[in-house]
Amino acid sequence: MRDSEEIGKAVHAAVEAAVWAPSVHNTQPWSFVVSGEEISVRADTGRRLPVEDPAGREMLISCGAALFNVRLALRGLGHEPVVRLLPDPDRPVLLALVRPGGAVQPDEHTRLLHAQIERRRTHRGDFTGEPLPDRFVEAVCREAAAEGVRLTPVRSGPAVRALAAVTRAAQEVQSQDSGFSLEVLRWSRSPESRRRDGVPADAYPRSSAQDGDSGLFPGDGSLFARRDYARGRPWGYERAWDRERAQDRPEAGPPELVAVLTTAGDEREDWLRAGQGLQRALLFASAYGVRAAFHTQALELYHLREFVRHGLCSGEHPQMIMRMGLTEEEAGTVRRPLEEMLDERP
Ligand SMILES: Cc1cc2nc3c(=O)[nH]c(=O)nc-3n(C[C@H](O)[C@H](O)[C@H](O)COP(=O)(O)O)c2cc1C
Repeated sequence: MRDSEEIGKAVHAAVEAAVWAPSVHNTQPWSFVVSGEEISVRADTGRRLPVEDPAGREMLISCGAALFNVRLALRGLGHEPVVRLLPDPDRPVLLALVRPGGAVQPDEHTRLLHAQIERRRTHRGDFTGEPLPDRFVEAVCREAAAEGVRLTPVRSGPAVRALAAVTRAAQEVQSQDSGFSLEVLRWSRSPESRRRDGVPADAYPRSSAQDGDSGLFPGDGSLFARRDYARGRPWGYERAWDRERAQDRPEAGPPELVAVLTTAGDEREDWLRAGQGLQRALLFASAYGVRAAFHTQALELYHLREFVRHGLCSGEHPQMIMRMGLTEEEAGTVRRPLEEMLDERP
């Protein structure tokens, strides 16, 4: 017989796990209704970014990552998740219905990923420069593939440089545009802030004009622009990164892994799958001490996204651009309290 109290606890724990998902600018654009044993995963459209994300693509990738955590937590707690994706065309904010199915014994892989849900962090600094073993790269790509999406390492120097150049161009364009700039400002938090959403000031390294840091990352001459959350203010943690060591890097190729996550289609369902595949790959990486940095600015500008799609992704739709590597730095993050996003019904 199934123990309903135990199932209730697992369902609650699954929602607690969901909120640890990454989300664009830490908007946490989700809400949950627990009704009996069933979890409704919903998009909180008031948290969509109207300028950067008018179609809600990034919002749904974020929610897809949260959905993956729900599935993983249920399985990790011994319940096979039963999922209906986009169950009701008349209720577009209802993204998924999930309930615990039959009992399962979580395997080692499930336990490995489950343990990373609260440990995974987005990285915004540099990496140590140690290359990632090929076996790891192949394995992390398999994790994304298991969710029906493609994570492709970008190996050639020219392709990495092209991707970095497009990212720089997008960052430049967005920084000149008041709509984009105000949106970043709206979601960046000062060191004194008590808010539990947005990007906190300890989530990225401090930029310093004196040491020539322009927010760009060296490596193979490729320079990936990062989002400018501080906007000239002395926010951010002190770098652990050794600039001199970075300058000794061999010119042969980028020291970290540059990768693009793509989907065959570009509909809401594809975005939810992209989020699930992303989160699965990130948790796997985290289990091996590997962090990811995202550079998604170019995917928010139609023509640049089309350029990346046709020039670098063989026509597949790019959903995330990232670098992966090892780091000694530990970024901070915040989450809203569960009560704000959970509605529990009998
Ligand atoms: C769709 C999507 C796009 C993102 N784009 C960027 C980005 O361009 N730059 C960046 O620094 N972080 C990016 N992030 C990471 C979020 O800012 C991060 O997940 C959020 O601040 C919460 O922090 P955490 O992942 O460390 O918990 C993105 C995340 C998602 C899901």
